[in-house]
Amino acid sequence: MRLMVTGACGRIGSHAVRQLLQAGHEVVGTDSMIHAGNLRELAKRIPVVAADVQDLGAMLRVLTDHRVERIVHLAAAIGDQFDTQPWGSYQVNLGGTLNVLEAARHAGVERVAMASTHNVYPKAYGEHGHPTWKPIAEDHPPDPWRPYAVMKLACEHMGRIYAAKYGVDFAAVRYAAYYGAERAIRRGKKAPDVLNRMILEAVEGTATNIERGGEQVFDPVYIKDCAHGVIRAALSDGKRGGRVYNIGGGNPVTLNQAAAAVRRVLPAARIEVGPGADFSPEGEGYHPPLDITRARTEIGYEPQFTLDAGIADCARELEVLLGRK
Ligand SMILES: NC(=O)c1ccc[n+]([C@@H]2O[C@H](COP(=O)([O-])OP(=O)(O)OC[C@H]3O[C@@H](n4cnc5c(N)ncnc54)[C@H](O)[C@@H]3O)[C@@H](O)[C@H]2O)c1
Repeated sequence: MRLMVTGACGRIGSHAVRQLLQAGHEVVGTDSMIHAGNLRELAKRIPVVAADVQDLGAMLRVLTDHRVERIVHLAAAIGDQFDTQPWGSYQVNLGGTLNVLEAARHAGVERVAMASTHNVYPKAYGEHGHPTWKPIAEDHPPDPWRPYAVMKLACEHMGRIYAAKYGVDFAAVRYAAYYGAERAIRRGKKAPDVLNRMILEAVEGTATNIERGGEQVFDPVYIKDCAHGVIRAALSDGKRGGRVYNIGGGNPVTLNQAAAAVRRVLPAARIEVGPGADFSPEGEGYHPPLDITRARTEIGYEPQFTLDAGIADCARELEVLLGRK
């Protein structure tokens, strides 16, 4: 199969490229900023085209030049700055996705699979919050509170319309917060980066002190499983018809349990976690774990990494990124 990956130079995008090549597919990567950092050795193995998703003509040219059959659409404007720049988020995340869909329609592409977010769901509450933490399923009413998530939700709905009316099959994956070396190395201090931080500091040999939140449950998913999930959405048999799929780690844990896993895998880790059921520094609450039953049954998604295996892999990759191996 010939696929275009948008956002190919990004963190998840580079893993998607790697996994698609390993499975024997042909890939053309596109990105607005060509930077080989995440792609590493892959930059020499595939064509990587500088193409902004805001440019419909550029998208169409790549699809026709490379006779693309399916698209993995990961390009996005992410980051807190877009919460104060909703117009920028609109142009890239909604406008860009519409360009990808429209280009796919004109080029006869079979399916677009795109990355959405758990941010479309409400923050954890009721049975989905403390202490029961019932995983949330896709048919739960959305309640996005960030411009980014509003755009992603609009994209999901537009994708459904393209699938129903314009002959481009579509699926979206809603990611839980992921951990992975490419993200850990950015030294994020935000709540979703808590596991990234524990792994990075353990690898660097520094102590981690998290003031509170040891009993809070969260849903860590490894970056390579994010790539695996969107690939299953792109390649699974049959029509997806605009369905959305939760992609979580399948094994929600408390922060204390996550810290214990890091200590198990990296015995030199020095991690202290305080009590309580909210580890977000701003006390802003957190998203519930994701129910991945639909992804398991409809697209054959199965997390490839247990928490321990993901932490070990992440630590290995961090050693490489830090130039130690
Ligand atoms: N938990 C979550 O909900 C969650 C978390 C992370 C990522 N995601 C989604 O997964 C996808 C990949 O995220 P990531 O973490 O790999 O992000 P990333 O920032 O590492 O990668 C995104 C890539 O898109 C490119 N890009 C940005 N604007 C573009 C444009 N206008 N045209 C073309 N390319 C452009 C960037 O250069 C970057 O290489 C995104 O769609 C993101 O929204 C969801």
